[in-house]
Amino acid sequence: MSSIYSICLLTLVLNLNLYQLTNAFNLETRLPVIKYGPKNSYFGYSVAEHLIVDENTRHISEAVMLVGAPRAQSGQPQTNHSGVVFKCPLNTIRSDCTQIRIEEDNKPPDEGISKDDQWLGVTVKSQGPGGYVMACAHRYILKGSDFQWGQGICYSLSQYLDFRRAWEPCYNRPVSKAHEQFGYCQAGTSGEITEDYDIVIGAPGPYTWRGTVFSNSVRYRIRDDKTWYLGPVLENESPVDKYSYLGMSVTSGKFFDGSTSYAGGAPRANGTGQVVFFSKHKGESTFDVSHILSGEQFASSYGYSMTSLDCNGDGRIDLVVGAPFYYSRSEGGAVYLYINSNGKFTK
Ligand SMILES: *[C@@H]1O[C@H](CO)[C@@H](O)[C@H](O)[C@H]1NC(C)=O
Ligand SMILES: *[C@@H]1O[C@H](CO)[C@@H](O)[C@H](O)[C@H]1NC(C)=O
Repeated sequence: MSSIYSICLLTLVLNLNLYQLTNAFNLETRLPVIKYGPKNSYFGYSVAEHLIVDENTRHISEAVMLVGAPRAQSGQPQTNHSGVVFKCPLNTIRSDCTQIRIEEDNKPPDEGISKDDQWLGVTVKSQGPGGYVMACAHRYILKGSDFQWGQGICYSLSQYLDFRRAWEPCYNRPVSKAHEQFGYCQAGTSGEITEDYDIVIGAPGPYTWRGTVFSNSVRYRIRDDKTWYLGPVLENESPVDKYSYLGMSVTSGKFFDGSTSYAGGAPRANGTGQVVFFSKHKGESTFDVSHILSGEQFASSYGYSMTSLDCNGDGRIDLVVGAPFYYSRSEGGAVYLYINSNGKFTK
């Protein structure tokens, strides 16, 4: 449900010069939970509900909101705005959010890494009660004397919000042709963790901003499949053209049969924007394209945001797609709801 809250929040989005605020549980109007973050930090750019579960009793021991503030000052030496993810208790105190220590931010970043302006907290997601948490910095840069690659990075945290792993899906991939390959991936622009323990990372940059979606096993245990899966990116294989920004949003679910599909929003694909569904193909690290949905209006940015949930309670995962620049005389922005009936979407 956390992603639905984020969508609701998009409508409230922030234009504030003073303190920025986020109202997370806006269903209970008598006792709103309102949290303030640092000035000009974009506090509330991303929000996720997270429940910590006691491992012995399996009861919820703590409920928190995770709030990304991608322009906040983390305190890391040699950075001014590297971004922060805050943990906010669910109470009516307005200024009790605390910084989650995700990186080794008590010392300057390693040589060859630039974290200033990296936007840590652009994406924050919880897998669900007792599950993993992820946070990303899509503007994280690897640099050398003659290059700067904007590859992006994500981190996985335990349910207690302790650091687990860093995820760099574009690391060590071809960059000799810069933006025409994986030089400016911007991985982590979107992401989520599936119930099958896949970490899914949207990267709108590869191959001249065609973009793609990556996945790997978030647990990364000995027996887990540690392959990086990704949607096809090459000119003749990608489902979208240059500058489509596939991976601007991601979601996943068992849409078509018993196995998980990964969907990537491509807000500039084919003029209107599209959503591309990927599925794993045995023995291949490149996803198959299993389905494509298209927007209706040119430049409506269909696919800019997206979530999946069982809206009508029939046990099948439905899809919600945002098109923020849709317009007509009376409407600005559109949200499409697709009901899944046996693997076919009805709008
Ligand atoms: C941080 O801000 C200070 C003061 O504006 C500036 O001198 C410094 O260069 C900035 N640091 C980085 C890494 O941009
Ligand atoms: C792109 O949009 C046109 C209509 O504008 C449609 O005919 C065509 O099938 C679409 N192409 C793809 C690849 O979806």
